[in-house]
Amino acid sequence: MRDPSTPDEDSTNAASLADRPVELLPKSALPFHPRVGDPLDLLVDLSVGVVLGRSESFHRKYYTGGLGIIGGVAETSDDILTSLMGMPVNLDLMGPHVMFVAGKRGSGKSYTLGIIAEELALAMERREIEVAAVVVDTVDVFRQMVDANDEQADILKKWSLESKGFPVSVYIPRRTYVGLPDEVKKKARLFPLSIGPKELSVSDWGYVLEKGGSLSTTMDNLIGETLESVRKGYTLASGEKVNLKRDFSIKDMIVCIETNPAIEELYKPATKMALIQRLKRADRLGVFHPGGTSAQDLAVAGQITVIDVAPLGSDAEPVLAILTNMLCRQVLTYRMAWTDEGTSAREELPPTWLIIDEAHTLVPRSGNTPAKDAIVGYAKLGRRFGCSLVLCTQQPSAVSDDAISQADIIISHSLSHDSDIKALQQRAPAVMPEQFRDKVFISSLPRGVALVFDQSTENKRGFIMQVRPRLSQHGGTDRLSGLFEAVRLLIPEDIEEEPDSDVSEEEVIEEEDEVVEEIPEVPRPPLKLSKEDWRVLDGWMKDYIKTLFDQQKQEYDITDEPAPRVEEPPPTSKSSDMEWELERVPMTELDTDQIHIRRFGPLSALLLGKAMTRQVLYSRASHQFLFTSEKDIRETLLVEHEGVDPLEIVEDVTTGILSSGMSLYELIHEADFTFICFRKDGMRAAFTVGTSEGKVAIPIVVIGGNRSEVSNLAGRLRSKLPS
Ligand SMILES: Nc1ncnc2c1ncn2[C@@H]1O[C@H](COP(=O)(O)OP(=O)(O)OP(=O)(O)O)[C@@H](O)[C@H]1O
Ligand SMILES: [Mg+2]
Repeated sequence: MRDPSTPDEDSTNAASLADRPVELLPKSALPFHPRVGDPLDLLVDLSVGVVLGRSESFHRKYYTGGLGIIGGVAETSDDILTSLMGMPVNLDLMGPHVMFVAGKRGSGKSYTLGIIAEELALAMERREIEVAAVVVDTVDVFRQMVDANDEQADILKKWSLESKGFPVSVYIPRRTYVGLPDEVKKKARLFPLSIGPKELSVSDWGYVLEKGGSLSTTMDNLIGETLESVRKGYTLASGEKVNLKRDFSIKDMIVCIETNPAIEELYKPATKMALIQRLKRADRLGVFHPGGTSAQDLAVAGQITVIDVAPLGSDAEPVLAILTNMLCRQVLTYRMAWTDEGTSAREELPPTWLIIDEAHTLVPRSGNTPAKDAIVGYAKLGRRFGCSLVLCTQQPSAVSDDAISQADIIISHSLSHDSDIKALQQRAPAVMPEQFRDKVFISSLPRGVALVFDQSTENKRGFIMQVRPRLSQHGGTDRLSGLFEAVRLLIPEDIEEEPDSDVSEEEVIEEEDEVVEEIPEVPRPPLKLSKEDWRVLDGWMKDYIKTLFDQQKQEYDITDEPAPRVEEPPPTSKSSDMEWELERVPMTELDTDQIHIRRFGPLSALLLGKAMTRQVLYSRASHQFLFTSEKDIRETLLVEHEGVDPLEIVEDVTTGILSSGMSLYELIHEADFTFICFRKDGMRAAFTVGTSEGKVAIPIVVIGGNRSEVSNLAGRLRSKLPS
């Protein structure tokens, strides 16, 4: 049972050292502690507290080694003698586990995953275990583990803990990585993440090239044919041989489609063109690269690795699915080989903890993804080979039952949907007291409080735990989020767009539309930055972007620099120092006289659109009006015109937004921009306007707490906006 990677000595004879009973946590650390009638009986070691994930005999053998404190028991009992209130809760990190962390939005799930990662890091620092931990992050909240959690110093104090950062390695998409200055890479411990195109099967390609759907059969065949030709080599019409490639790029695939006579014969030019366009789009993500990141790069003994795909925006999902598939398969294969051959595979791959946030997108209950089978396989087989899995989701009812049913420990934060509560009840690996089954009870658990069910205490019941505060920072924004964005906007494409030939198939036209419509995807904009942070961030970005553009000799500056590029100095232009005086003017009917139009020097339409989109996402005005909650969902639209009076378009856009049911609320003047702001119940929308040489760009942001409401409104708006 025990993994050979854990040290043999020290732990067993340590028992004598710790005769002192563990100190109970103070009540101030456990503000929520309801009374639970059913008696609580867990595996308790008086020197450390409650022990999760271990049998008594296992614990007797390894004692305190390889345990990590994840929280404290937060329930009182009538029987003071048996009450475990205030006992620290220790999680076994030695034996392999499949854990499932559930909870509605904002209930503290990702935070809890961070606690598990921290405890793995601490146990490794104490040299009690030697594993690899890989955290899969789509929302940019784990990378910040490098920094100490100074924001929650008061809570940490109640737990007698001190804040501390961890040296995690952060893998970000290659394109974002390449664009960053070296000192940033070093300081933030960044590494480039890429996927070798050779890793993808035909169906994986379908998933990448056709978001959420599958390619037409013809295109599927064409992809299959292309992969086969590139792998095995092919002969050109001239008789020249193109040799087989063990490792190839998307460009190699495109060349093959264009020049392989066997493909020429079989497929219509339109089909080829449509596939080539999709491949180019995938290439522009900047993550597909020969060689690719391997499981050995990511799963390194003694290391916490964060895979942060947030910079990919809405394209993150297929990339992550393929990456997770590769990781699960490779880790399992190596670990299995180790057992089969009876030799150590540790040099190849250590026992690995795979921690996956937002797992419902990768292992959904219905439908398939490139990662689903691999994750289910890993959950079913991994434990036998020393591998652990932690899956996290908002919606237990939306995660494949094959995966949840493998869980030996379930930590559930607050849940509010009946279907999710039912899924938890069905799968809880311990007894669920009647009190916990009550919807009112489970839906009102405060943030950071969870119900814990542990299979190793089988016939015992689940209990209420307060998750401990994080030592390192959880999420939040730092300069990097802004920098990721800048790089995303600025780095030139690897592949130049070629003018399209005279192909007129519907498919191609459709695809063209898609490309034209493409608005820059932007990660969640920074929130909660202090004035000082803003100053530093902006100064830094200004310099950096300037250098980048100087290098590329482009006529463009993303900051609000006044002359010489501004054609006419705007009437209320403030000094260019960093003090943003905002002027908020309540307004219920549009008065275009009050709107400042930002006028740029000569810019291409693309750059104008990007600069304006950035403006609406990153300005201080947006942060006061739009981005007031981290939980909000956002959609960004861009209206572009040429040769029309910008105020006319402003009026048209305003009419469009008003006719979607929103009301005009206020204008916010910030430097030489004006933000026109609308409201309706919990929803907000705002836009601003910029021009360059007769081109007009108006980015609109729609934001609210409910995803479907936001996308409905954005959809309605799209149909009403001037085109
Ligand atoms: N145990 C805790 N102690 C203190 N603060 C916490 C705790 N758990 C969560 N929080 C706070 O609550 C916020 C939300 O937590 P978290 O990001 O983990 O939610 P989530 O359930 O992952 O939400 P989402 O579904 O949106 O991803 C965090 O910013 C964090 O500061
Ligand atoms: Mg989360």
